[in-house]
Amino acid sequence: MTALTLSTAGAATLRADALVVGVAKGAKGPVVAPGAEAVDKAFEGKLATVLEALGASGADGELTKLPAPSGLKVPVVVAVGLGQVPDKDESYDEDALRRAAGVAARALSGTRKAGFALPVEDASALTAVAEGALLGAYAFTAYQGGEKKASGKNGNGKQPVGEVALLGAKPRDKEHKAAAERARIVAAEINVCRDLINTPPNDLTPEAFAAVATAAAKENGVKVQVLDEKALTKGGFGGILGVGKGSEAPPRLVRLAYTHPKASKTLAFVGKGITYDSGGISLKPAGHNETMKCDMSGAAAVFSAVIAAARLGLEVNVTGWLALAENMPSGSATRPGDVLRMYSGKTVEVLNTDAEGRLVLADALTKASEESPDAIVDVATLTGAMVLALGNRTFGIMANDDAFRTSLHEIAEEVGEPSWPMPLPADLRKGMESPTADIANMGERMGGGLVAGLFLQEFVGEGITWAHLDIAGPAFNEGAPFGHTPKGGTGSAVRTLVRLAERTAIGDLG
Ligand code: BES
Ligand code: MN
Ligand code: ZN
Repeated sequence: MTALTLSTAGAATLRADALVVGVAKGAKGPVVAPGAEAVDKAFEGKLATVLEALGASGADGELTKLPAPSGLKVPVVVAVGLGQVPDKDESYDEDALRRAAGVAARALSGTRKAGFALPVEDASALTAVAEGALLGAYAFTAYQGGEKKASGKNGNGKQPVGEVALLGAKPRDKEHKAAAERARIVAAEINVCRDLINTPPNDLTPEAFAAVATAAAKENGVKVQVLDEKALTKGGFGGILGVGKGSEAPPRLVRLAYTHPKASKTLAFVGKGITYDSGGISLKPAGHNETMKCDMSGAAAVFSAVIAAARLGLEVNVTGWLALAENMPSGSATRPGDVLRMYSGKTVEVLNTDAEGRLVLADALTKASEESPDAIVDVATLTGAMVLALGNRTFGIMANDDAFRTSLHEIAEEVGEPSWPMPLPADLRKGMESPTADIANMGERMGGGLVAGLFLQEFVGEGITWAHLDIAGPAFNEGAPFGHTPKGGTGSAVRTLVRLAERTAIGDLG
């Protein structure tokens, strides 16, 4: 993994393979952002002019590489766009910094060391740059390289940049050191989350996922319990069992518990962990199943967030529930028309076996509710309807509490995760009425994401504050990389969950 250091050297004296500077969009052309003064000086104050001549404007996501002048100890300068110059007295937008650092880090793969001379005016800007760089430097190479792998070399593509040295921070300042360490932890856990999502489903079975979670929990002082298929049967987890029944790889329910002796609040995170979603007997057509290894992204985000909370030593208890199953068609699979008796005792008529996420989540939500946490947040790649509504980069937030939904939306905004509040319209409940069971697992097609949210709500314990994040859009990037987001698993929702835990720890959530 890429190392992050706070450099004591200045931009003019740092020896590295490249220096990264920021360029913003000014009223009269590109403007060199603060932090790069020494670099500009080496260009005799003409860096902005040179950049403009090269066609740079300072737009968000823009990247310009230029040869370094003789005054610098690096061969290349990499200028990344930061968008509009901020108003007077305003500082650079943190998320623009995070994205730009990611763009730069992606362009630096294959190099050993790079200095980042971006505007880090305070500790939180430092965190953003550090996170962006470490997230942008991510590469999933575990399955590439063939025989060369044995020699430690990666055959396809370049290795991520070896070291990111942040300039302009104070290496001995307590606050800055803490900001860097926080970024290291959060980025590392997001990258673990991405690895899990990208791991092919023939290797990442529910059992394998549970083993990864168990090992990480033990390493980080987190309590872990795994319910296997026998324990699930004994406990009456009809939803998780019903979904997992068609697969050769049996389901699991994992409970992770991070506790702090001084904590006064407990959060429960619940993640959808379908290690592969074929649709089951309601089989998905070709074109809709190639990326369905990503259907455990919610569980991966929950897992990473709990481990991050533990590594950060937050003063809050965080319990993570991973509802793991593989949704496959076979002679033993649940059929459309079957009725499942859920862990809560409710019966569900399964009209479509492809609406499986809500079934595993329902059991996990009921189980999590038994412990009366202060709030529950579930995270799931739940519906294609949410992707139709909000696109590929924005997750939907539903909740049984308006204030909590608003808080989560604000928190997501704060950490640079696009999201939008969505309603739970009561009139959509009647579409899930079943002549046979208490409820059906499908309702009206219109508003399908909200229908799924309403279904989940019925399995949340009385009086418990709950929110549901439908990350079906942003969890997996099928397009080209952008900002600090790679192709494939993105780690969507981890930063939001971690910040929620941080805010809860300091009592900043009411
Ligand atoms: N895992 C899918 C949802 C999904 C779609 C995730 C696209 C990521 C990208 C989920 O299990 C599913 O199949 N949902 C169905 C529900 C329907 C049958 C009610 C859907 O959205 O079509
Ligand atoms: Mn499905
Ligand atoms: Zn699914």
